[in-house]
Amino acid sequence: QDTPLKDKFGRPFQDLRISVTDRCNFRCRYCMPKEIFGPDFSFLPKEHLLSFEEIERLAKLFVQLGVKKIRLTGGEPLLRRNLSLLIQKLSNIDGLDDIALTTNAYMLENHAEKLKDAGLKRVNVSLDAIDDETFKSINDVGAKTNRVLKGIHKAKEVGLEVKVNMVVKKGMNDHEVIPMAKYFKEHEITLRYIEFMDVGQTNGWDFSQVVTKKALFQQLNEHFKLEPVEPAYKGEVAQRYRYAGTDTEVGFITSVSESFCSTCTRGRLSADGKFFTCLFATDGLNLKELLRTGATDDEIISAFTPTWENRTDRYSDERTEESVKNRPKIEMSYIGG
Ligand code: GTP
Ligand code: 5AD
Ligand code: SF4
Ligand code: SF4
Repeated sequence: QDTPLKDKFGRPFQDLRISVTDRCNFRCRYCMPKEIFGPDFSFLPKEHLLSFEEIERLAKLFVQLGVKKIRLTGGEPLLRRNLSLLIQKLSNIDGLDDIALTTNAYMLENHAEKLKDAGLKRVNVSLDAIDDETFKSINDVGAKTNRVLKGIHKAKEVGLEVKVNMVVKKGMNDHEVIPMAKYFKEHEITLRYIEFMDVGQTNGWDFSQVVTKKALFQQLNEHFKLEPVEPAYKGEVAQRYRYAGTDTEVGFITSVSESFCSTCTRGRLSADGKFFTCLFATDGLNLKELLRTGATDDEIISAFTPTWENRTDRYSDERTEESVKNRPKIEMSYIGG
């Protein structure tokens, strides 16, 4: 593509997050609380999910428009059958530099090797505590940390690049900040602390529950010496540091206290084929309908282009008490973070 697509603020479309399922085997209280995501919740019916062929077709078009990096998300993406077949298809796309996965790693030990062989490069594992009791009280399905840790170590062993994401919420797991740092420093794995965000309608977010980067940094400083690391690319989500005298990094994702919308190059494709220009968008462009009514590649591109060109989203920059309370928002488990 000669002239890469730019939005109203000059931001190119470079990263695509694809949710492959809205289901999850965990019921993290801050994301899919059981009271709402119980036996009666209606998840997307199978026929509404994009097939791997449909995802591949869209991915190719997006790469033509400038996408360099694709991340697969969920719900829990490893619940989607034969995910490695999709990764294989994506890894054959010319011009795509990076394929990554965000997972809770409960099923990673069994899948790591297949995923790597299919062309996956990196995995980000969500793990909010190292202590079993705390972890169980968060995931709410009795999952133990040991199984997640086995998945992490297996992924490293087969040559995947692994990072760990910890969402920190006051009163939930803030006592685990240092134990998590110690464990992952010792195992030379990057840990990133994530400020708890007001996504979805069901997580009961309140600013008082956010542990900011500043507070986290202060806590870490009492135990470790940290040095800043330059961002790998413009618009990197995490602020990175290194434990002095080591190659091991620790990072912060400051969506609340220091938002990063001005460099946001991310678009999101939901499992049922809607395209969202922001994590906090309320409406998506229905690409599935185009795919299934026989649109040509050119027709899809013509329908899509204005969606990016007219993009003005900067929700985290503009977040106010009003928007937190009254704005309708899609669920994290639907859009994949
Ligand atoms: P890397 O490519 O490894 O840096 O991954 P990533 O940090 O972009 O993705 P990951 O799925 O690991 O997400 C980590 C956290 O960042 C999650 O809480 C996401 O919801 C959040 N996040 C990722 N992209 C955005 C974004 O565009 N806006 C906001 N507000 N949060 C984001
Ligand atoms: N705020 C911040 N991160 C969240 N995640 C899920 N819900 C939230 C929230 N409210 C994280 C998951 C996963 C990533 C995709 O998003 O733990 O690491
Ligand atoms: Fe927990 Fe991630 Fe599943 Fe949400 S999608 S319930 S954060 S494991
Ligand atoms: Fe991008 Fe929206 Fe997140 Fe801002 S809030 S960084 S615009 S996805």
